[in-house]
Amino acid sequence: MDLLELKGIGVEYDSNGKKLLSLRDVSFSIQSNQFVSIIGPSGCGKSTIIKILLGLLKPSAGTVTLGGKLFDASNLKFSVVFQNPALFPWLDVLKNVEIALEAITDDERYIRETAEKFIKIVGIDGFEEAYPRELSGGMKQRVSIARALATGPDLLLLDEPFAALDVFSAQALREELLDLWESPDLPPDTVLMVTHNVDEAVQMSDKIIVLSPRPGRVLGEIKVELPRPRNTRSEEFYSVVDTVVKLMSSD
Ligand SMILES: Nc1ncnc2c1ncn2[C@@H]1O[C@H](COP(=O)(O)OP(=O)(O)OP(=O)(O)O)[C@@H](O)[C@H]1O
Ligand SMILES: [Mg+2]
Repeated sequence: MDLLELKGIGVEYDSNGKKLLSLRDVSFSIQSNQFVSIIGPSGCGKSTIIKILLGLLKPSAGTVTLGGKLFDASNLKFSVVFQNPALFPWLDVLKNVEIALEAITDDERYIRETAEKFIKIVGIDGFEEAYPRELSGGMKQRVSIARALATGPDLLLLDEPFAALDVFSAQALREELLDLWESPDLPPDTVLMVTHNVDEAVQMSDKIIVLSPRPGRVLGEIKVELPRPRNTRSEEFYSVVDTVVKLMSSD
């Protein structure tokens, strides 16, 4: 069943008194347990879609439904990871993860155990007492992912989470996130990722939504049915990459 459905979404920003159309007639759906990516050039409105799902922005046109009912961000358990990890510099790693859990429970033992569990899952155990300034970019992003997953979200929103990392850290983190997504007993189950990296989208997604340059509209959807884990050097992989690239330049 569709978890989320966006129908005819339009967004108009007010930019210094001038109307700026950011999204036009955007429709797509996300099913439970799916990994969906949105790809498109800079400024096409990808982060704008994330803002709508976070409940930070009301679209000027169209509807979003959650399980068939009108979407309300307060009815969905979601977490978000941005390109630049938004950690609290004055808190250590453990506290940075615990703070997300403190928002949902006051069971101190549960908070401590869950934070420790996810810190271990993302491979930064041993750094619980380190401060963000003492961590590399990749490690900081691991903390962000631990924090996002610790609360057990139904939907994980990712806004270019690997874009600021070197190629090796990015690849390692992609594979680890996919392992988590594929583990039935661990979050996340459903993921919506925004990216402008075609290889990344093809490696990770069940479905890729391709947006046009601003104002973003859906140029097409591509289902990726390659077996997992995906061989990013196979001919079949390149063939899907090619299909996405062609669709991106079809505008
Ligand atoms: N708060 C705002 N006020 C006015 N215009 C905005 C605002 N936020 C975004 N925009 C405009 O809307 C368009 C889409 O922005 P958005 O951030 O969604 O793009 P994006 O696809 O995420 O780009 P990038 O890949 O560079 O992150 C851009 O042209 C941007 O200038
Ligand atoms: Mg963006």
